[in-house]
Amino acid sequence: MQTIQGLKLMTMEDADQLNEKENLKLFKKHIGHNLGKMLSMLGFADVIPVRANGMYITLNDGREVLDMTGHVGVLVVGHNHPRIINARRKWAEREGLETWKFFPSPYQAALCHNLSLVFPEDLEVVFFCNSGAEANEGAMKLAEKYAGPGRELIVYTDISFHGKTHATLTVSGSEKHQNHHFNQLENCTMVKYGDINDLRRVIEENMNSKGATRVGTFIVEAIRTEGVVIPDKNYFKEVRELCDQYDIVLIFDEIYTGFGRTGKMFAFEHFEVSPDICSFSKAFGGGKATFAAFITKPWIFNKAYSKMNEATLHSTTYNGYGEEIVSAMETMHIINDENLVSNSEEMGEYLLKRLEEVKNEFPDIVEYVSGIGLLTCIKFKSKTKKMVKLFSNRGGETIDKFITGAIITLLFKKHNILTFTPPHDSSQLLITPSLIINKKQIDFFIESLKEVLSENLWKVGFDYIKKLTPL
Ligand SMILES: Cc1ncc(COP(=O)(O)O)c(C=O)c1O
Repeated sequence: MQTIQGLKLMTMEDADQLNEKENLKLFKKHIGHNLGKMLSMLGFADVIPVRANGMYITLNDGREVLDMTGHVGVLVVGHNHPRIINARRKWAEREGLETWKFFPSPYQAALCHNLSLVFPEDLEVVFFCNSGAEANEGAMKLAEKYAGPGRELIVYTDISFHGKTHATLTVSGSEKHQNHHFNQLENCTMVKYGDINDLRRVIEENMNSKGATRVGTFIVEAIRTEGVVIPDKNYFKEVRELCDQYDIVLIFDEIYTGFGRTGKMFAFEHFEVSPDICSFSKAFGGGKATFAAFITKPWIFNKAYSKMNEATLHSTTYNGYGEEIVSAMETMHIINDENLVSNSEEMGEYLLKRLEEVKNEFPDIVEYVSGIGLLTCIKFKSKTKKMVKLFSNRGGETIDKFITGAIITLLFKKHNILTFTPPHDSSQLLITPSLIINKKQIDFFIESLKEVLSENLWKVGFDYIKKLTPL
């Protein structure tokens, strides 16, 4: 058996000494060749970030980059908020128990208490885990166990993303095009997002002779992150009524939208309804800890896991370690003390207004803009006849990717702004900055975007494609 002795293990200091080329080489070898290539094409592999504070990332070439991604929504309080660093430092210096597997943790208890205060009604029983997908897996298992035998059908929506584990992939409507690569969970049915009649149809088509429906669970995003799709005001009221009528467990996935992203603490508040289970992650760890959870009502949890031998029927090793708890605890306090939910609402309105301005100035390039709070997007029209003809062998989606890629690269290289495109629609930028953003930073982003859209994007996109595969 191999021992660790005598191996030339690298240290963090060794990692600090890697130059861009060595870094990319190791990344491609050990993490993913094509992922490395993709990051390299966007210009992100030409540099190494050395610091990150608030809205900015400092690169090893001295540039300060404005982060308009919020790192896929994780950073509500900005990079390295000093209060979180302090809290973590204080916690580490205590050399307290980190793992809390065999003792009831007062820190977990206090965080759960805080969560029960920000969630409505009797949402108060919490399960901690590590990723959004894991939170959704746990939520769906809980719902299935609550619903019981004969009520195993899980309903999800056609435009949705709930994660990339087997179960969460099955219920991610937007991942359908790649799901054929993987095994699917049985007993899952898709309905149209925002269409109450479609949900009613599935419930009624699955009635048994006793008047109960096989549908036990409905999992949905209150606001669909990608493309910022906001259902009709009444939709979720009717969803709630149907779920109550048929005793269906309603799960809201707030993994992207939770903790102020949409200008309210949770996106479901826009619709004046609440779920039976809510999953959340990303923002919860304050950008310093990989943390996730679901919260539910005691009568659901207690019915599902009613027996003594079911106490750990659903569990995970890393749940609620000290570092995670202290990060989440401080994050919630910062959101409260710095009024970040109202800043999200106010700055979101301003950002959307300015994006509308971009749309009006560039009607040939911009298809639509959408936003609520600091969840915003801009979608580009890139499938012009000319481009489709030019790249007919590569397909429209490829063209989208490269035009958006060109915009991302130009923003990064020429204007020191970090942006990204979501995985299911490469013709848009999803703009989800930290909730600490101010007007000046929004103005800088908008003016830079206008400059980029004034460039010959077709040419930049063309050069881009040539770089990937010579024509
Ligand atoms: C709405 C939503 N649900 C679930 C997930 C999955 O979370 P994770 O990537 O942490 O597994 C994501 C991730 O982007 C998400 O946006």
